[in-house]
This record gives sequence, C-alpha cells and structure tokens, in this order.
Amino acid sequence: MTIYKLPDTKAFESCLNNKNTHLLTFVNRAGMQIAVSDYGARLVSALVPDKHGNLVDVVLGFDTITGYTDAGEQYHGATIGRYANRIAHGSFKINDTPFTLAQNNGENSLHGGPNGFHTKVWDRQVSLQKQVDFCYISPDGEEGFPGTVNVNVSYELTNENEIKIRFRATTDKKTVINLTNHAYFNLNGEGNGDILNHILQIPATTYIPINSKQIPTGELLPVENTAFDFRTPKKIVESINSPEEQIQYAQGYDHGFINQSTISTPAATAYSQESGILLEVYTTQPSIHLYTGNFLSNDLGKSGHRYLRHGGFCFEAQHYPDSPNQKNFPNVILAPGEELDQTIIYKFSLKK
Ligand code: BGC
Repeated sequence: MTIYKLPDTKAFESCLNNKNTHLLTFVNRAGMQIAVSDYGARLVSALVPDKHGNLVDVVLGFDTITGYTDAGEQYHGATIGRYANRIAHGSFKINDTPFTLAQNNGENSLHGGPNGFHTKVWDRQVSLQKQVDFCYISPDGEEGFPGTVNVNVSYELTNENEIKIRFRATTDKKTVINLTNHAYFNLNGEGNGDILNHILQIPATTYIPINSKQIPTGELLPVENTAFDFRTPKKIVESINSPEEQIQYAQGYDHGFINQSTISTPAATAYSQESGILLEVYTTQPSIHLYTGNFLSNDLGKSGHRYLRHGGFCFEAQHYPDSPNQKNFPNVILAPGEELDQTIIYKFSLKK
C-alpha cells in the first residue's frame, strides 16, 4: 500500500525563465491537505481521507519541478489558457480580423499553444493561510492571441474539503479566452491502477460531438441511447470501449457535456467503491469536458508508478471547444471593461 504525503517543498525551488518557482501547501481543519505550485498555477497534490481513514493523494503529478518540466504530459493539474481545448486550424476571427495561433495538435491549437499558461511561472500572494492568488500578465500577441490579458487564479482549501478555484481575467483589446484546470484524478490514489471502475454521474442531457480531428461538429446531441448517457450512475468501463464513432475518434472519452446545473448542484460526480471517495464538481462554466486520460504517456508519477492510459481522468469545466469558430456556441470574446469570472469547485467526501 502506498503511504501518500505531500511532495517536499524544496524539490520545487528552482528558477525558470528568470523567475523562482515554489510549492505551497495548505491543510484544513478536517486534515485534508493540498499542494499547489506557481509553475503553471497548478494543483500538485490533494490528500483526502478514504473509507479506511488513510490519506490518499487523488491528483496525478510529480514530486519535483523537473518532473513537470520534463513530463510527456505537460498539463498535469495546470491552469489552462488562454484557450482551453482546441481551436481548429489554429485560427479564428474577431470582427473580420484574422488571428493565427501556434499549432501544437496537428493543425489545431490546443490548450493555449505550446507556451500556454501551464508553462508560465505565476506571481503569488497567500492570504489567511488557506488561499493563494496566482497572477499572470499575458502579453499582447502571446501564442498569437490579441490583447494584454491580466489573469488571476485563486485556490482556496475550505473546511468542507473543497478546492475552490476562481478564474478572473481582464483585457485591453478584444480577445478570446477559456480558462480551466487540468487536474487528473484517480480516486484510488495516483499511480494506483486505472480509473475504469470509477462510477460517474453527469446530469447533462446533451453533449458536444467531434470530428476525427477532435473538433466539434457544431451540433449538440442528446446523450440518450449513447455511450454519453451518465444521467444514471455508470462505471466508465461499461461504455469506454463502445464501437460508437464518437468514442473511436477520441480513443475513449474526450468530450464536452452541456452543463445545465448551477454552482449549487454538481455538474458531474465520480465515485470509487474501493476508496469510498466521492468527487463532486460544481461550476459556473457552461460545459464539463470529460477526458479519460486516453493519451497518457507513461510518465513516472509521485508514487513511483507510471501513469498509463486511463490512469486518471479529468473533469475540465470550461467553455465549449473551438467556440471562436462556432457561431452557435456561447460567447468567448472578452472585451476591455469586462471581467471574466468563473469558478470550479472540487469537493471530496466519503459516500454514505
Ligand atoms: C484534451 C485531450 C488532450 C489532453 C492533453 C485534454 O483536455 O481534451 O484531447 O490530449 O487534454 O492533456
């Protein structure tokens, strides 16, 4: 059995792009602990109690800063921006002005480009020993996006075993923006096998189908009678190998579900019978992107185990993929004078 603990903060003290990097740790009254790093404004660890009373690290990641910089999978736990998920052909227009982005997923732009927010060392400010604010100023033209964007991402660990992440941003020119968190979870503990027996419940009645390049077709389709119906709790393994074209395109789940819940009811939940841990996601964002780690690349994780295919899953609360090119999707343009303000809450408990 793996004994989980937070990584050593010293192993995150380094200097990248002339900025010092750190690991910050928080503990709440219930004994839950988290670690976050200013490298990528990222969630590194979350130790939550399982049904046997042991603390389990449910977040995949690395125990050194070089683990993150050298990883095959670059997005572990990170803040994703400027635009989470794909923008087709790495191009879009605002009021007829074309913009060309760095392409890093075939011809698409993925997760803000190769030098997206996950690669930046953010400034940080800790308050009340339970919250940290990470700040980053993204220069005009960064990875091809217009406007200087001021971003603030705060992490708070509440006494109710919630990790509350609030994303705020302003700009000095019209731009497109879609921020999310890319934590991979395994509720049996990171490195402890795959997530195929996790039971998911997603109340969404529609989802976002994609083409073979993983770009939305523009439709929203009913989940009914498809592998995407998680309205009644279902183990991932029951439908992840479905012959349906949508599942084949992504080699598993890598799709957005339309979020009809408000911030006070879960947009998605995951549960492991083995650990008894329940994860509920609450959010203001319009969709939940379920990604079942289909392309995890064998990185050596914190526990000394490799992260194999389906070794973790993500619930990425975000705007719909490729919205800048899809006229029927909700607006992702941020204009001067406006503020983006979105929240994602990951809440952990033991299921009764
Ligand atoms: C995307 C996947 C991609 C992965 C990379 C996910 O958010 O939807 O297609 O491979 O991120 O980590």
